[in-house]
Amino acid sequence: MNEIRLLALPGDGVGPEVTAESLRVLDWFRDRRKLGVSVTERKFGRASWQEYGSLMPDETWDAIHDADAILFGATHSMDLGDVPEEERKKGSLLRVRKSLDLFANLRPIKAQPALGAATPLKPEVVAGVDLVIVRELTAGMYFGTPRGVEILADGTRRGVNTHSYTEHEIARVARASFQLARGRKNHLTSVAKDNVMEAGALWREVVNEVHAAEFPDVRLDHIIADNFALQIVRRPRTFDVVVTDNLFGDIFSDLAGSVLGSLGMLPSASLSAVDANGKRHALYEPVHGAAPDIAGQGIANPLGSILSVVLMLRESFGLPAEAARLDSAVAEALALGARTPDIAGPGEEAGTARAMGDAVIAALDRSLARA
Ligand code: IPM
Ligand code: MG
Repeated sequence: MNEIRLLALPGDGVGPEVTAESLRVLDWFRDRRKLGVSVTERKFGRASWQEYGSLMPDETWDAIHDADAILFGATHSMDLGDVPEEERKKGSLLRVRKSLDLFANLRPIKAQPALGAATPLKPEVVAGVDLVIVRELTAGMYFGTPRGVEILADGTRRGVNTHSYTEHEIARVARASFQLARGRKNHLTSVAKDNVMEAGALWREVVNEVHAAEFPDVRLDHIIADNFALQIVRRPRTFDVVVTDNLFGDIFSDLAGSVLGSLGMLPSASLSAVDANGKRHALYEPVHGAAPDIAGQGIANPLGSILSVVLMLRESFGLPAEAARLDSAVAEALALGARTPDIAGPGEEAGTARAMGDAVIAALDRSLARA
């Protein structure tokens, strides 16, 4: 198998702590499963500013475009107030997403039977939840123009952002979502505000067109965004793949994450299209951010990052069986009581990120002993 060139960007806050555990897991696969992977590491965010005097030196930018896959930790953009505005723009994660054209952001949300105590919902509502939110990641409100803050004639300010989607941008994320649904329960739910927004009505229309032309075998539902907010809490189990725009996807993935009780559990994969040379850019990152309040204590939950490696094994390495092995190892570690503070229920003992990494690796070792 060809070697995958992985770029690790641990970033700031808890990013380095959680990424370190994922890199140990990848080491395990390299040593024990002959995984073809080489890892290079670059600083990102404040760490980059401190080390290189720039948020995005050319070496990092080139490495980002060159890598077969990126493992990203976290950045804390609020913490960069002393860095010049121009420099901050150069080093933003949004710029990376846009430049690599990572339009399909997969955010799986799967109930962990062992974590019943961590969820704020009733256990019977959460049991069996297994869905993927596909968030469009390179258009919509995050990138639309015009944007900015202008001074009006009367001296007061007006802030503007634009929600914009071309037919092409909708069709390609719809296609990726239908394809994903085919490999799962064959059910896609499209979420938009089509009762109010023209761009939302177009979203629905284009999803229908792609459905009729290419994926008539997949069951398709449409749901209006505000109603989805209600249903994702009320009946999360009834969703399989959910496709939505950039802003709704940002909000609903946090909301759906509450099903698991902790954002610390959520992984993500951001994927581009496959280009003419067969190359597809891919960035894997936990959904949680830098969590500066607990950074440096070694108690951050590394499972959002480790479960992102599950996605990487499937999407970038093309090894679904090894992905399933790691997924099961995480479930087993949790079943045996491994916890970080964010997922510890009453009376459960919480350990460190390192201990969680150890528990997952021990479960991986056992998976070999069983084979
Ligand atoms: C996410 C985050 C980012 C976003 C922030 C950090 C820019 O919330 O990936 O969900 O809004 O996309
Ligand atoms: Mg978010």
